[in-house]
Amino acid sequence: MSPTHRGPSSERLAVGVLASGRGSNLQALLDACAAPDFPARVVVVISDREHAPALERARAAGVEAVWVSPKDFVSRESFDLALVHELEKRQVGLVCHAGFMRILSAAYVQAFAGRALNIHPSLLPAFPGLHAQRQALEHGVSVSGTTVHFLEEGVDTGPIVLQAAVPVLPGDTEETLAARILVEEHRLYPAAVRLFAENRLEIVGRRVLIKDSSKEGR
Ligand code: GAR
Repeated sequence: MSPTHRGPSSERLAVGVLASGRGSNLQALLDACAAPDFPARVVVVISDREHAPALERARAAGVEAVWVSPKDFVSRESFDLALVHELEKRQVGLVCHAGFMRILSAAYVQAFAGRALNIHPSLLPAFPGLHAQRQALEHGVSVSGTTVHFLEEGVDTGPIVLQAAVPVLPGDTEETLAARILVEEHRLYPAAVRLFAENRLEIVGRRVLIKDSSKEGR
């Protein structure tokens, strides 16, 4: 299955970003998109938290910022369908979850099958869910890292696009490990979005094949 559904390659891919908090990964994506040769642009940032710094970052970059309050909906499913509506209204070709701390229902996942990415601060499938860095320290691993993967039902599962490893050092705290991982996240997420936008990702079963750019168009 090819995960992209886009128009001519000259168009920049329209990306929607979902973020609940600080938004440093959003910022990395916004910064990457500011380069004229980057093949994607962020068209909307949506948050479930009214005062998420991510929304401020969007506004500062001149990108539409939308707060969708979960309290306005009777169920998780109806909230998720509102997200689908907001994203489809803007015709996004890709959704990037960047610290969006909610579990999405089946209808949402199906709406964006093969068109939604998530970033997580561990080498999945190790340490999904909350406090990935704490889990890594508790397990005494000497290497952790970050993963960008296609979204699936389930918490932090789905075909892996890119991973980056970082060492866990003696004396690390959750904070120092998180900061070291974050440096890699900010590099990795734009790289994954570029690959998607260049039509170079193919989902084959549980795996993602990265097609060689030199073979494009053959
Ligand atoms: C990032 O470390 C991201 O990997 C993580 O939340 C942080 C958001 O930071 N996501 C998850 O844990 C998803 N399970 P940011 O708001 O500064 O981008």
